[in-house]
Amino acid sequence: MQPIGIFDSGYGGLTILDKIRRQLPEYDYLYLGDNARSPYGSRSFEVVYEFTLQAVKWLFKQNCRLVVLGCNTASAKALRTIQQNDLPKIDFQRRVLGVIRPTVECIGKITQSRHVGILGTPGTIASGSYPLEIEKLFPDITVTGEACPLWVPLVENNEHNKPGADYYVKQHLENILEKDSQIDTLILACTHYPLLEKKIRKFLSESVRLVSQGQLVAESLEDYLHRHPEMDEKCSRNGTCRFYTTESEEKFTTMASLFLKGEINAERISVDTFSN
Ligand code: DGL
Repeated sequence: MQPIGIFDSGYGGLTILDKIRRQLPEYDYLYLGDNARSPYGSRSFEVVYEFTLQAVKWLFKQNCRLVVLGCNTASAKALRTIQQNDLPKIDFQRRVLGVIRPTVECIGKITQSRHVGILGTPGTIASGSYPLEIEKLFPDITVTGEACPLWVPLVENNEHNKPGADYYVKQHLENILEKDSQIDTLILACTHYPLLEKKIRKFLSESVRLVSQGQLVAESLEDYLHRHPEMDEKCSRNGTCRFYTTESEEKFTTMASLFLKGEINAERISVDTFSN
């Protein structure tokens, strides 16, 4: 078995895994959620990098040759350093991909006004990764960020479809559109936000496009595998998916149903095993 590894700080990456599995059902997957140490969104650069590197090394030990960081915060704060500094030392034939680049690549075709907004965790927004990546590909686009620290807890407490969530959703949409009223495209730059999409839509005019990243990441992975047959042939294809969490299996299984339909049997690995 040489599964494709999907890593997230917790449950959110299941929204990415879901789209990837629909796009590429024949491959084997191994999902790891670092639930014991999530959320990552408010953690420092050093800590997110350290935890993410531990996760990547653990997934490599489980025989994953290719790992996707399904987490925006980990992609924003750890991916570049892992790709540039760690991978050459660990195994130059293995690869780690993130969710930011595939999302950003499509933005040029979507925005008409050339004003784009990023909604994400405090960590993702503070890292400046989205503006940086957009600037590289589309220097004519103006990017504005808004950190929405309460949106992840709203989803994880299953409050996202309730009336009480309105206040927190509306507040951040008003903030970002006040910062730049010409925004015509908003990127949902966090794994949890697709679950808030209906609510977000309610407070936006129809002229503003919402970009959800799961499908974009899935298509980009498919394209990557086509362009890298040497990697593609190393990924096994039996259509399986295994789930690992650093917290309790029961909790993971219950919460996972918010993000993913179908039965999930998760296995627990302790943070000690994970970080050694
Ligand atoms: N998965 C994280 C992200 O996409 C959200 C949850 C967290 O803060 O750990 O940024």
